Amino acid sequence: MQPVDLIIFGASGDLSARKLFPALFQLDRAGLLPLDLRIAAIARDTIDLDQFLSGLRERMTGYMGDSAPTDKEWEKYARLISYIKADFSDPKDYQKMKDWLDDNRVSLFYLATPPSLFAPICDYLSQENCLTGDCRIVLEKPIGESLETSKVVNGTLAKYFDEASIYRIDHYLGKETVQNLLALRFANRFINSQWDQSCIDHVQITVAEVVGIEGRWSYYDKVGQLRDMVQNHLMQLLCLVAMEPPNSLEAESIRDEKVKIVKALRCIDASNVDEHVVRGQYAQGWSLGNPAPGYTEEPGSERDTSDTETFVAIKAHVDNWRWSGVPFYLRTGKRMAEKVTEIIIQYKELPHNIFGGGANLPNKLIIRLQPNEGIEMTMVSKRQSLKEKLALQTHTLNLDFRDGSDDDRIPDAYERLFLDAINGDQSLFVGREEIEESWRWCDGLLRACQDQGVSVKPYHAGSWGPAKAEILIEKDGRSWHV
Ligand code: BG6
Repeated sequence: MQPVDLIIFGASGDLSARKLFPALFQLDRAGLLPLDLRIAAIARDTIDLDQFLSGLRERMTGYMGDSAPTDKEWEKYARLISYIKADFSDPKDYQKMKDWLDDNRVSLFYLATPPSLFAPICDYLSQENCLTGDCRIVLEKPIGESLETSKVVNGTLAKYFDEASIYRIDHYLGKETVQNLLALRFANRFINSQWDQSCIDHVQITVAEVVGIEGRWSYYDKVGQLRDMVQNHLMQLLCLVAMEPPNSLEAESIRDEKVKIVKALRCIDASNVDEHVVRGQYAQGWSLGNPAPGYTEEPGSERDTSDTETFVAIKAHVDNWRWSGVPFYLRTGKRMAEKVTEIIIQYKELPHNIFGGGANLPNKLIIRLQPNEGIEMTMVSKRQSLKEKLALQTHTLNLDFRDGSDDDRIPDAYERLFLDAINGDQSLFVGREEIEESWRWCDGLLRACQDQGVSVKPYHAGSWGPAKAEILIEKDGRSWHV
């Protein structure tokens, strides 16, 4: 394999210190980085390498706590890193990168920058002859804010990189449990044979956050929870639950199956939006025992009122043979009661109950991404008792990931994603068509909300969202798992 250079644009930013450099460090600690890897940290601060490294170490230590690097580990890791001071809009500074790059090595450009810089950085890289060798590019959402704008971003990337060299990150795909979903579905025959409308009553996907908008008011107010979370993270989870078995683990096979699901999502338009979508916005309340401000009172707020949703609940349908009649209830919000990310597969009741009474407790599969990543299945068994004949009880089968794993620590999503990008494996990265089809569906939903005046309903910070979100599911005779 050709040696790899990793060039991180935005190396002094928050994402770099909080996620990227710690992930690379963990890979180095585990001996998983190629020995000849070189990392160029690119930022505009006028500092030298030593100053960059000492600032980085301090910030990483703050984030990593007990697992922060020891002196010896740091010494080894720091040797991989070079610092290049550059203004991303100054062509001269790209010459410094050109001097550092080596055409005999793979250049992996990681854009940890605001999305508005994606296009200019690519243009300058090309103009200043930095894209002459084998090059790949890694970038994060948002890839546009609508179908139209995502096409512009993807179009710019396509001018300089072919699709096989573009690594679009959705960090949810790097989470252990999300990858485990693939193992669970496609490595267990009995699960796969029960995975359709004949056995499953409905699916719930909840991504609830305790945090508010974390000082990002001006960004968030233009975007809202649907574009920030549903278009990408929840859509990816839905696709992995709903897709057909791919032919292989190759990126193209997985992407093809995911795209089919996005295309099969029933349109939410003016005729059905009232029945299928609830939007909410947090008002003052309590968060983990402390008073919490309402959305428009958050620091940085520019207005007294806003129609941006911080919560959304959707009843979606995948119109294909496998999922006919099975609703997918999606729910995500900021400043909710707990941080919970989970997928619930609710099985149907027994077709004929020979036990009577409360015996008809349908099985439930709980795929928990956070906190405490793991998978649980509720099962019914006989209670041991001579007094009662065949009294039943519910048990939980718990699949603990740590059993038999190399490490007690669950790796961060970025560790997996870096390793795959370095090794040229795109299977956990998102393809152009998936992104654009997902925007097509979300754009339609947003248009319908606007046309039908589906306004935001207030909910107290620290609650589970507006009452209407309970009604959305309860009117179908079902309830949210939490
Ligand atoms: C990001 C969103 O993509 O995901 C944030 O922009 C959100 O608003 C975050 O808080 C949630 O990620 P996680 O891994 O904490 O669930």
